[in-house]
Amino acid sequence: MTRICVLGLGYIGLPTASVFAANGFHVVGVDVDSQIVDVLSKGQIHINEPGLKTVVCAAIQSGNMLVRQVPEQADVFIIAVPTPLKDDNSAELSYVIQATESILPFLQQGNLVILESTVPPRTTEDILVPILQKSGYKIGEEIYLVHCPERVLPGNILHEFVSNDRIIGGINDKSSDKARGIYEKVVQGNLLITDATSAEMAKLMENTYRDVNIALANEVCRIAYDLNLDALEIIKLANMHPRVNLHQPGPGVGGHCLAVDPWFIVEKSNNAELIRLSREINDAMPNFVVGLVKKMLDQVVKPKITVLGVTYKGNVDDIRESPATEVIRKLKQANIDVGIYDPYVKNYEFEVSNLEEAFVASDLILLLADHKEFKYLSADELGFLMRNKQLFDTRNCLNHSKWKDAGFSIKVLGKNNQNS
Ligand SMILES: NC(=O)c1ccc[n+]([C@@H]2O[C@H](COP(=O)([O-])OP(=O)(O)OC[C@H]3O[C@@H](n4cnc5c(N)ncnc54)[C@H](O)[C@@H]3O)[C@@H](O)[C@H]2O)c1
Repeated sequence: MTRICVLGLGYIGLPTASVFAANGFHVVGVDVDSQIVDVLSKGQIHINEPGLKTVVCAAIQSGNMLVRQVPEQADVFIIAVPTPLKDDNSAELSYVIQATESILPFLQQGNLVILESTVPPRTTEDILVPILQKSGYKIGEEIYLVHCPERVLPGNILHEFVSNDRIIGGINDKSSDKARGIYEKVVQGNLLITDATSAEMAKLMENTYRDVNIALANEVCRIAYDLNLDALEIIKLANMHPRVNLHQPGPGVGGHCLAVDPWFIVEKSNNAELIRLSREINDAMPNFVVGLVKKMLDQVVKPKITVLGVTYKGNVDDIRESPATEVIRKLKQANIDVGIYDPYVKNYEFEVSNLEEAFVASDLILLLADHKEFKYLSADELGFLMRNKQLFDTRNCLNHSKWKDAGFSIKVLGKNNQNS
């Protein structure tokens, strides 16, 4: 039976490990965080992803998956550790370097090493190859190496892991062939073979494409405020053209991928001008939203606002790089009292309240993440708790007539200053 050692048991590594185990592989999942190993060993999971707990528990109970704090010998090593941004917007590769170094004592001739973490172009060739060479094996001939970027969507990871097409970028053909032999056992999508650096760049371009297009929508939104226009109406009309598909504006771009990956290209090429500017436009949106909030509250003494949702998008518990954090920070800097309600988030750098506490004596609801639960909130009951009934929906996701009927004045990001 093929043995797989997966390093990093987070949003990517845990589904990867458990899906391989469910398909008959013998998997050792490794995480340096002892709490994560403890939680998983007790049959619990530490992340919120639909269906994942069932697959992980089944994998562990079947004996196909073990959870450890250090690697073990295996046929295949999959590295799925974090690659965050440093303060200077360059890639923090120390986790990838440590994880690669940690497998050196366990490498054997014929092993395949798969880097799934998202990395700047040339990382596999320039950083992983020299580390693996320290094993004494010839890389590409005795140890095989590929970059197989992950492109799943949080909230739908288990389905997309199996059904998405997958890029396999080997440092040579033998490496790609080896990796194809592993992924074809679990992936139903196409396996797209290329070289390691092209795989790295293609992955980054997927998220960069989306980031640049969101920046364009956010720019339309800001221009519309200058020209006293409704950006959402303009985007809707333009999208009636058969070859136009403008995105929607929002309070900023977050998450560990879209807000991060474009910088990995900027770091490597001075020609990445549009990509850099798009990041800057999207990063400026929290400030723009706070400016609009301040205008709405300019008549209110000692204002309090209720933030609904702090994750980077709806229906997930992921707060990484969430624009909500920057919005809240700026509101607090402006001495605005902030009550926060998010049914998905428990640990956050600001206090998350229960529903009633978040709304009591509030002057404005600021919706920042479109969790489905928010659609079922009672506008009447919550309005009763508030001091002023204002709603600012930055995701254009609520039933505005319901809130209007309950006496709220409504603003929607992009709809300029009109009541919707
Ligand atoms: N989350 C996503 O939706 C997504 C999508 C596509 C690609 N990616 C990429 O996948 C990679 C992993 O992301 P994630 O969201 O799973 O991160 P994560 O933070 O959820 O999980 C990473 C785990 O790795 C562990 N770890 C760190 N160093 C380690 C080491 N040396 N050995 C073993 N474990 C170690 C951490 O403790 C953590 O539990 C990143 O490069 C990310 O950009 C993520």
